[in-house]
Amino acid sequence: QKKMILDLDTGIDDALALAYAIADPAVDLIGIISSYGNCLVETSGENSLKLLELLGQTDVPVFLGEGHSSTTDSFEVMEISQLIHGKNGIGEVELPVAKRPIESQSGVDFLIEAAHKYNDDLILIPTGPMTNLDAAIAKDPEVANLIGNITFMGGALTVPGNVTPFTEANIHQDPEAADRVFRSPAQMTMVGLDVTLRTLLTKKETQQWRDLGTEAGRVFADIVDFYIDAYYNLDIDKNGCALHDPLAVGVSINPSFVNTIDLNMQVTYDDVDYGRTIGDKDRLNDPTTNMKAAVGVDADAYLVYFMELLN
Ligand code: BDR
Ligand code: CA
Repeated sequence: QKKMILDLDTGIDDALALAYAIADPAVDLIGIISSYGNCLVETSGENSLKLLELLGQTDVPVFLGEGHSSTTDSFEVMEISQLIHGKNGIGEVELPVAKRPIESQSGVDFLIEAAHKYNDDLILIPTGPMTNLDAAIAKDPEVANLIGNITFMGGALTVPGNVTPFTEANIHQDPEAADRVFRSPAQMTMVGLDVTLRTLLTKKETQQWRDLGTEAGRVFADIVDFYIDAYYNLDIDKNGCALHDPLAVGVSINPSFVNTIDLNMQVTYDDVDYGRTIGDKDRLNDPTTNMKAAVGVDADAYLVYFMELLN
């Protein structure tokens, strides 16, 4: 089993990433760091605690991460995020208040400690902005070398993005943080919008969860149906919702779900290109690359495995 840390802005597809990580027998989920984006950092942490309780995983600790980007001092949830994920981040579904609090150690310190303890055996999955990882590397640069596997959901190598024509939401929240991480020695795999938008979940699958007759099955079906309806109403996709964040978890364990290309990535942040993930022309001839960017996905194989785990 690999040790895994999820860095989530919990969010509906983040909730699916959480469920996937718990269900995959190859994964030992050692902690969740909360991030901001789909909701505020505190709400994200509460959502993770509530979902863990629902799934009977009360021994997985949840840590509070950074609450806003590295260049601002506050954060407001975008209206579009509330339309997609609901005002509470989890599709307006009300879950009982979690019985345990968030940990007192900061998410950044937890990440640094885990990097030293598990190094090559540690998988980190950022599915929100890159702020926590950037802060950890700033505090302890060794972290970039230590973590064995960083697979993140974010970016759009072949545009369009989902915030501007060029940018994807997670990278758009803190482009500077992402750019610094991309220039660090950290080896990363990018699971961007190019591929995640091709992995769709429909109401046929959420009905299977309802049919399980369990509380968790019903709650997850309600949450994800909200997401599917939002995709339909906002005309993002009329057939289903994208499995953005759980695909990153899947790829970290089974890289063959995607095809990747090797390159050195950068994030640009001038005007129209604010938060764009793009190959770094200044490092084109660099013999070493630090990014594997997914460009194709075996969506059918992934969906079969996803449903096997979640059922
Ligand atoms: C990403 O942004 C968030 O809305 C989702 O949870 C996902 O991580 C998609 O751009
Ligand atoms: Ca997310």
